[in-house]
Amino acid sequence: MQFSYVNPTEIHFGKGQIASVSKHIPTRRKVLVIYGGGSIKRNGVYNQVAQALKEHSWLEFSGVEPNPTLETMDKAVAIAKAEQVDFILAVGGGSVIDGSKYVAAAACYDGPGWDILSGSQPVDKALPIGAVLTLAATGSESNPISVITRAETHHKKSFKSPLVRPQFAVLDPDVMKSLPEHQLINGVVDAWVHVCEQYINTPTGAMVQDGYAEALLKTLLTLGQQFHERDTTEQSGDQWRANLMWSANQALNGLIGAGVPQDWATHMIGHEVTTLYGVDHGRSLAIIQPSLLRHQMADKRAKLEQMGRNVFGLDGEDALAERTVDKIEAFYQSLGVATKLTEHTEGKERAIDDILGQLEAHSLVRLGEKQTITLDQSREILEMAVL
Ligand code: NZQ
Ligand code: ZN
Repeated sequence: MQFSYVNPTEIHFGKGQIASVSKHIPTRRKVLVIYGGGSIKRNGVYNQVAQALKEHSWLEFSGVEPNPTLETMDKAVAIAKAEQVDFILAVGGGSVIDGSKYVAAAACYDGPGWDILSGSQPVDKALPIGAVLTLAATGSESNPISVITRAETHHKKSFKSPLVRPQFAVLDPDVMKSLPEHQLINGVVDAWVHVCEQYINTPTGAMVQDGYAEALLKTLLTLGQQFHERDTTEQSGDQWRANLMWSANQALNGLIGAGVPQDWATHMIGHEVTTLYGVDHGRSLAIIQPSLLRHQMADKRAKLEQMGRNVFGLDGEDALAERTVDKIEAFYQSLGVATKLTEHTEGKERAIDDILGQLEAHSLVRLGEKQTITLDQSREILEMAVL
């Protein structure tokens, strides 16, 4: 175990916390509020933010789409530069926060913003960011990652910099009351897979990371099982949303991944499924992951067995890892989430070729914990996930 760890994002959690935004941004700052397609106008979050910023000078940029595009975010970059904005407040889900991170970095760079995503331009400066989270899923609100799609080339790419990690994040679970059910489910699945990508790998005896990962998985499993009864009482609904918001945050804030092997192959292949077919991010993962785990069984067996025992409470040694993958798949299906691409597209062979073409074009030819998932292996995984 060898790592450096810091997560300086201040979290302000709970009902009514949006009002505290007024205290977290100095009034001398000129703020650009960035949001999505308008859900915050309908559920009252916009009004709460406007109220909190009444002593500030601020302007707004709306229209960030799910899976935010470079093309859209570059319009916000132009505004940030022209208006000499010096603070970005992201109000939304992972897409808005990721888009805002890109704006924060690109606004401090004179060249084309794609340089930041391609890695040819390291981020050496960024505007400070705050986040008001409205959808629990990605953990973007307190991590240094941003995922942006170049629509022109269907290329979904991420960059990472400590300079774009939000200074603060407001997590008021009440704002999730307006989320459609399928988005809540996407959040459960995405957070679950984030834990898996950092946990179902070669065992290294990291007891704290493993134990905390298992606590998060058990929480998410319980939330999934409670999904249809979550709003039976006001208290149960409040608790359900609070637990999802906090567990999704903890799943990808850097803690459980510190000093342990990671494997983001499901995400890398899933991103191509999203760019090609418009499948929601969380759902793209549920299509790929069970097949990928089965295909990579030799490397995944020990941790799958541990997960079977400690998360699903399975007994016995016989085919324990295989039974664990079956449980994972059944979990997604119990939430109405498809675990095969066939449910999303016609022309199965063509789909496999198209996804592989994307992986190759984006140089994603060595994936997985040990970089051993070549294009041939990705093809085998896709044949299991698609055919
Ligand atoms: O745009 P609006 O109108 O706000 O509607 C959004 C959007 O349509 C809606 N929504 C959000 N909060 C709402 C709400 N509707 C009603 N009430 C609310 N309170 O939900 C829709 C989806 O929002 P989006 O932000 O796209 O969802 P999510 O948080 O799942 O983010 C997905 C994006 O994050 C990236 C994904 O690739 C994808 O682009 N990821 C980012 C990561 C990171 N930064 O660490 C890691 C993840 O693995 C992931 O790749
Ligand atoms: Zn994800």
